[in-house]
Parts: sequence; structure tokens; C-alpha cells
Amino acid sequence: MTEVQTQLGRPVGESDDAPSHVVVSGIQPSGTLHFGNYFGALRQHIRLHKKHHAFYFIVNYHALTTLHDRQLLRRYTMDVALDYLALGFDPEQAHLFIQSDVPQVTELAWIFYNLTSVSQLEKGVAYKDKVAQGATPTAGLFNYPVLQAADILIYGGSLVPVGADQKQHIEMTRDIAQRFNRTFCPEDDPLFPVPEPYILDDVAVVPGIDGRKMSKSYDNTIGIFDEGRELKKKVMSIVTDSTPLEDPKDPEADNVFALVKLFADSPSRERIEKLYRTGGYGYGHAKKELIAMIDDYFGDARERRRDLSQRPDYILDVLREGGHQARERAEATMQRVRDCTGLITTYEGKL
Ligand code: TRP
Repeated sequence: MTEVQTQLGRPVGESDDAPSHVVVSGIQPSGTLHFGNYFGALRQHIRLHKKHHAFYFIVNYHALTTLHDRQLLRRYTMDVALDYLALGFDPEQAHLFIQSDVPQVTELAWIFYNLTSVSQLEKGVAYKDKVAQGATPTAGLFNYPVLQAADILIYGGSLVPVGADQKQHIEMTRDIAQRFNRTFCPEDDPLFPVPEPYILDDVAVVPGIDGRKMSKSYDNTIGIFDEGRELKKKVMSIVTDSTPLEDPKDPEADNVFALVKLFADSPSRERIEKLYRTGGYGYGHAKKELIAMIDDYFGDARERRRDLSQRPDYILDVLREGGHQARERAEATMQRVRDCTGLITTYEGKL
């Protein structure tokens, strides 16, 4: 697996004496998390939080750019927290919190608006895509990347694990960090580190049931916590070509195999690849094996999720404590920001 190298020259976490990063990432509360979320970002989040200082937040402010349903936003927010804890996020090792529990990020975003050109935002691929799909082009949607920059920089983030589609947003964040430092800080004392994206390039695109990129907006997803009949129904409906069972098949051209590759250990992957190339092994066989692999892969997490869903108070405690730590750090950054920019405060951070 080739991991995108950071500017530090080696994949993060490869050796114990690697410089420690501040890892920062936001998670959309957009409904059931699916394999695309998992292999694109979540799996990296879980790995990285054990090795570095990590801040992960559920981006409910960002969600408001497209979701205007109070019940759903609340439910999705809590679901993300539940999913993260079930998938192995350990609150003893890093911070998990709700974005809006740190209102300082909106304050920083305002300052960043004044360092961001409209023409750069107009080139935003995610913005243009969402509008093309029918979203109303609001100021919130337009300025989404600026809030994201504030999210990252307010904690001094140096490494941002995200899906490949977020590359442009991280570039904008880097521009904003550099512009802020150049505009407001002495040359030898920049306030913001310039963060690096952390993207695993070989799993960037996870195919959905219809073969397009797995995405909620295409309605082609398989959920991390789908199981039993529902899981079976979805896997069985993955689109394949019509090569007859007995004929050899090209594994690299098949959606089922693309998923098998994500879940299988190397011996099983090699065995199945060989069966494809030999023939006499149908897509139905591959789908059955895939289901067993998925069950095995997420078995423990499903169990933990069932257990945690009985303990909503525990989840709130985790989020509350994470928010508390994050606010402290964010407020410290904001005091420096206000100072650098000439925003006089008379209340010294207290109410
Ligand atoms: N835009 C990101 C996404 O859609 C979510 C996000 C918001 C984010 N703020 C962030 C990701 C900060 C990384 C860092 O997935």
C-alpha cells in the first residue's frame, strides 16, 4: 500500500521517533457511514489517533450548508460519535467532539474570509458539484472551505487525513495559513503551521453498488453496520458484467473484486484473483465470499456498537470532555489571533 508521503519524507507513524503531528479531521454527520467513508478516511483516523495528538470533530456547522432538519442533524451527529467509538476510537488517546461546541472556529472563519478571494472559492470543485446536483448556492456553501480552514488551523493541525476529494480544500487551507502568517505575523514567528493532507491513494475510490464512486448522493452505498439480509441484498445487487460463469474474468475490471481487495488478507486476495483468471468461478461466488469477509471484518465493531447504543450518557460524556479540551486549545489560538490582527478584547476570554 503506497501511502502519500508527507513533506517530512516518510509515511506518518512509520517509526516511533517520527515527529509527532497534530492530526485534525472533520467528519460529516450525513447519515449512515459507508465503506467509502471507512476506507477513504475513517480507517486512517482510527489508526492515526493512537500515534499522534488527534482532534476529530463532527462537523455539524458544515452540515447546515445542506441539511435543514433538526431531528436528522441531531441523530446523525450522535450516530457518528457512536460509530467512531464502535470502530475503535479511544477517548483516552485523542479528542472527539462536536464542531459547534467550539464556536471560536466561526470567529476564526470570519477573519479568514478577509484573506480569501472570491475567485479562489469560485473554483471550488465541491461547491460546483453540489450546486450542479441541485443544492442552493448559499453563502454558507460557498464559504465552506474557509470554515474548514478554521477547523484545521485553530488546533494547529499539521496533518489532515481526508478522502481524495478533499485535496483542494486542504490546498485552500494551506494558502490561508500562509497568507495569515505573511500578513499578520513577524517573519520568524508564524502562528499557523502549514498542514499536509494525508491521503491513501490506492483506496481513494471505493465503488458503490452501481460501479460509480460510493457516495450517499448516488444512493449506491453499503453501510459499515449493515448486516444480515440487508447486507446480502446490497452485495448481491453489485453490478457486474455478463461474462458466463465458466469463462475467465478480469478481476481488475470488476466491482466485486474491487471490494474484495479492501477486505481480504493477501492470501485470500491472491486465491480469488486466481479463480477469476482461471474461470469456473462466478460473480455470485465472489459476492458470497465478500459477505463473509465483511461480517468478519466488522464483527467486533457491530458488537461494540450494540453495547454502546445502550449507553447514550457515556457518549455525551466523551463528547463533552473532547469539546472542553478542544475549546481550551482553540481559545488559546484565538487570543494570539486577536492580538496579531489588532482585535482588542476587553473581557480576557471570560464571559
Ligand atoms: N469537508 C470535509 C468532508 O466533506 C469535512 C471537514 C470539515 C473536514 N472540516 C474539516 C475534514 C477539517 C478535515 C479537516 O469530508
